Amino acid sequence: MTYVIGQACVDVKDLGCVEVCPVDCIYEGARTLYIHPSECIDCGACESVCPVEAITFSEDVEGEDQRFIGIAEETFASVGAPGGADRHGRIEDHPQVTALPASSAPKA
Ligand code: F3S
Ligand code: F3S
Repeated sequence: MTYVIGQACVDVKDLGCVEVCPVDCIYEGARTLYIHPSECIDCGACESVCPVEAITFSEDVEGEDQRFIGIAEETFASVGAPGGADRHGRIEDHPQVTALPASSAPKA
């Protein structure tokens, strides 16, 4: 199990989650961030700090955001397990994220 970042993060990218994650497993793409499913230790610290409530425990994800579980899995199938987002640097957005229409949400 893991936590998942859903569509509410797209084009918002508050980055508060990155600040609190004790294992640096939240990776940044151009339009959103991705929690590494096998590097996340399920501490839940990120969930409460996200101002747009984009982060959910994977078993509790509902509706449209369920596809973001697969989006994260597919993203890290190609990235691998670098063992730290800061060390690895930015990753490519998943094609389904790139294809989303521009969000009207204000930039953080
Ligand atoms: Fe980090 Fe959130 Fe997992 S703070 S360890 S990504 S639950
Ligand atoms: Fe996105 Fe929320 Fe983190 S907006 S960058 S998931 S704090």
